Amino acid sequence: MANENEFDLIIQNADLVLSNPDNPSNFKIEKMDLGIKNGQISSLGTLSNLPTKEKFQGKGLTILPGLIDTQVHFREPGLEHKETIEMGSRSAVAGGITGFFEMPNTNPATLTKQDLERKIHIAENTSYCDFAFYMGAAQKNVQNLAALEKLPGCCGVKVFMGSSTGSLLVDNDDLLRQVLENTHRRIAVHCEDEPRLKERKYIAQNSNGDVSKHEEWRDEETALLATQRLVRLAKPMNHPIHILHISTQQEMEFLKTEKTGDLITVEVLPQHLSLESPDCYVNLGTKAQMNPPIRNTKHRQALWKALQAKVVDVIGSDHAPHTLEEKSKTYPETPSGMPGVQTTLPVLLNHMHRGHIGLTDIVRLMAVNPSRIFGIRGRGFIAPKYEASLTIVDLNKEMTIENQWIESKSHWTPFHGQKVKGWPIATLVRGQFAMRDGVLSKVPTQAFEFQK
Ligand code: DOR
Repeated sequence: MANENEFDLIIQNADLVLSNPDNPSNFKIEKMDLGIKNGQISSLGTLSNLPTKEKFQGKGLTILPGLIDTQVHFREPGLEHKETIEMGSRSAVAGGITGFFEMPNTNPATLTKQDLERKIHIAENTSYCDFAFYMGAAQKNVQNLAALEKLPGCCGVKVFMGSSTGSLLVDNDDLLRQVLENTHRRIAVHCEDEPRLKERKYIAQNSNGDVSKHEEWRDEETALLATQRLVRLAKPMNHPIHILHISTQQEMEFLKTEKTGDLITVEVLPQHLSLESPDCYVNLGTKAQMNPPIRNTKHRQALWKALQAKVVDVIGSDHAPHTLEEKSKTYPETPSGMPGVQTTLPVLLNHMHRGHIGLTDIVRLMAVNPSRIFGIRGRGFIAPKYEASLTIVDLNKEMTIENQWIESKSHWTPFHGQKVKGWPIATLVRGQFAMRDGVLSKVPTQAFEFQK
């Protein structure tokens, strides 16, 4: 007979990173047991004598609310030679990520209900963790965005103000205004100014294969112009916006003065926090090519400063895999982007040991804020009745990041050869181990649910 009081799993004696859903910026780390039942956290405390189907020894390990990557490109449908939802999500759970928001620049681009449902169907069958998908914004679907953004499994609308991989583009203020008028949820925006990109394309074309010209072509002014245009349109309309992958000091200074409450939220990436020019182009060549570009030390330091001053709300990976074959063409024929969903957490934990970021900052930027800002139900906190989607880390484990470790179909990482301290040990998705000691399991997964 089933014992009603029995837990499905008790994680014993682990350090839990706790914060209160009513006061999410107030963190504490406490050693205790965590009991899971029916995919939810059911009890916290001393549970060692209680009946359970399974126990997991958490001594020496730290448990974070399940981290969520709010910017990945999993390329399916249409670009499966680069990535698939299956391989991308394997990469996610291998790196301690329990769910993802996926970008619409697939082929076809995600512009209709059918496009979204197709992705959800693939994810329901193949994803290793929970998921949601952005709807792309374009001239041809702008009038339908109000209905499209509300569809189950949609995390919001994504706008490309500058062209990047794929054909999605909102390159003028008239169309951008229409996107804002036709949406209510937070829109996520890639800010690079398309007219300036076009005007200066000759810099890339005359580069003689020198990828370091990428940074000159897509310069700091290109990023700042678009960020300013967006904020000046959206703020008077009181429209929530999420500005993706901010890469310049000037944008951070501007945003610091423009931000009030959660109306404008800001993302940075581990790549922009960790790599810098000119070294990255010398050492990694076109593997370091991405949009917006990796910039110099002044910008990298400004991003850290903004993160420490809480101008930054979210860290995403912008996992944007391309094959090594594609990356080995001659610049500017090479595609922009690099894989990252699997390396984000180890890279950040290593930064933690170097004093750049606190553990609770990582939790705030990758669990609490994604849940709060985008309104994901049941996520972001270790507390009773919340989902038992958890990221378990060994803060002291020293490892070297290697291409062979990468589960993504691209099988490479810009961090190959980097020694790090701090490593994901297990990934739980609603109570089940999707990754345990590096071994992956296909557990039931589902679309995130959002507050209305
Ligand atoms: O470098 C990038 N690659 N930036 C983007 O905005 C898109 C991405 C991709 O999809 O390849």
